[in-house]
Amino acid sequence: MCGIIGYVGKNDANSVLIDGLRKLEYRGYDSCGIATISNNQLQVMKTVNRIDSLVPCTQKLGTSNIGIGHTRWATHGGASEKNAHPHVDNSDRFVVVHNGIIENYLELRKELALQGYKFYSETDTEVIPNLIAMNYDGNLLEALKKTTNVLEGSYALGVIDTKEPEVLVATKKNSPLIVGLGENENFIASDFSAVLKYTDAVSILDNNDFVVLTKEDVKFYDRNLNLKQNAVKYIDTNDGDIEKNGYEHFMLKEINENTITVKKTLDSYLDGEEIKFNLNIKPKEFKNIKHIHIVACGTAMHAGLNAKYVIEKLTRIPVNVEVASEFRYKNPILDKDDLAIFISQSGETADTLACLELVKQEGIKHISFVNVKDSTMDNLSENVLYTKAGPEIAVASTKAYIAQIMLLDLFAIYLAKINKSYDEEKLNDMLKSAIEIPNAIQEVLENDEIYQNYAERISYTSDMFYLGRGLDYYVALEGSLKLKEISYIHSEAMPFGELKHGSIALIEEGTPAIAIATDKKMIDKTVSNIKEIKARGADVMAITTIKDFPEDVVDEIIYLPEVNEIFSPLVSTIPLQLIAYHVTVEKGLDVDKPRNLAKSVTVE
Ligand code: G6P
Repeated sequence: MCGIIGYVGKNDANSVLIDGLRKLEYRGYDSCGIATISNNQLQVMKTVNRIDSLVPCTQKLGTSNIGIGHTRWATHGGASEKNAHPHVDNSDRFVVVHNGIIENYLELRKELALQGYKFYSETDTEVIPNLIAMNYDGNLLEALKKTTNVLEGSYALGVIDTKEPEVLVATKKNSPLIVGLGENENFIASDFSAVLKYTDAVSILDNNDFVVLTKEDVKFYDRNLNLKQNAVKYIDTNDGDIEKNGYEHFMLKEINENTITVKKTLDSYLDGEEIKFNLNIKPKEFKNIKHIHIVACGTAMHAGLNAKYVIEKLTRIPVNVEVASEFRYKNPILDKDDLAIFISQSGETADTLACLELVKQEGIKHISFVNVKDSTMDNLSENVLYTKAGPEIAVASTKAYIAQIMLLDLFAIYLAKINKSYDEEKLNDMLKSAIEIPNAIQEVLENDEIYQNYAERISYTSDMFYLGRGLDYYVALEGSLKLKEISYIHSEAMPFGELKHGSIALIEEGTPAIAIATDKKMIDKTVSNIKEIKARGADVMAITTIKDFPEDVVDEIIYLPEVNEIFSPLVSTIPLQLIAYHVTVEKGLDVDKPRNLAKSVTVE
């Protein structure tokens, strides 16, 4: 989703901004732009092409020591140069980049139009520089404060004034913004990755706070413009983690990091048969839980569905899984003995954050499973368990999903141990067997050629099915989403037994279908279901851990290493990630930056 970078300091702003935008590219965007000031002249460049296409133009510009840059993911108004940020006021003086949505922009636009202001874009953002111009009375910070007083919605804003080219001002509400503190240079950005090359000292801006940056100084202000101190953190993320390290795409690198991700999760939380979680929830409170609500979006929601199955199996506590955009508006039934679980890779997903706020207001116990440390969700949650995937750059989530599944499995076992709801010996056997998972994942990765060949064979298709029962169905859902996200092939995931109630009508000669079959108890049912679709012409590949699977019922079969049943999705998801990746490469599409998608969805 939109990314912001702002710079004031000793170096040439043009190159710092381009560099920062490249680091924010992974969030997803469809246009981008930068504005710098050189000799009191404003220079604005925008494009609907990739960031690199801005580079030749910046080389022709005069050097500058201040500027703001933006990657835009279109919401109000299509992807065009006129809608791309930065936006300027009518006098070309105040320049703004914005992430978020101004909900009352039409009203504000009307009011400004009555005062003679003109609008040249379809964006909600363009009201902001004009409001700043209208409110300006010699002090940019005060003008910005007056402006935010009338803004409804969410925003992270970076503002510069052509007549004061040594000051950068910023603020935020429900949209992420960090401040990078360097030596004779300071930054604002949507996330750490954009500034890490220059400084590891960062400060996270609180909602409704303001910050004023000059080359030598950074001052933080609260909502009433009282000076305040803001904690500085030192980020230890290795810049290497956000590079491709020899892989052709981030996605392939990240799929290959699944092994180490699971290993890191186990090393961090598992000590023999003891699971070590640092939570402010007492064992007695865990014992009283009557109901668990899992709330998340996209791939994280699929991890939630998988967790529902495992938690219910091991604890018999009913779990409901809701997409955050539904949960927040449905007046959910919450009880003081309930537990809410939030799952998010970025920790910045607007809908999931809104649900977290709602649950907090109701005083419900909650735990957030978050990948990005110091993200908004991390800061807002009373209990956090960190997934250990490290930075994930490709828009399609792979290793973060595997980390979520692993950690939620451990959580289910942890809860079952506390509640004594499942045979202790069996739980310990599960934990002992967990150390085999990284090797099993590695074995799948080393057989990548199989998936590449399969991908070549089916990449022509316009429709595809992913089918399974129980946990295999949730794997199917995630495999199907991966394919849709990056290859733009339509696919449907179904519980195998449900297919015949409608969707089987879509199966015709040659329709590719992947049957995931890891549950021995269900093998006969699965085989019957496969026969039903074979009889209608489907081209079926089975992915199984079952050694005596009847090979003659399918067109192709892949045997996966066997792990404990509850851990099977950690292994059986990997082939589906590889298939989605290879189909996309085969089709010549942009694997890491699929159309229309954003990595971090910071607006509703
Ligand atoms: C976006 C991403 C998905 C992700 C979802 C939830 O749609 O493209 O890959 O699963 O947001 O993101 P989160 O950061 O909350 O896990």
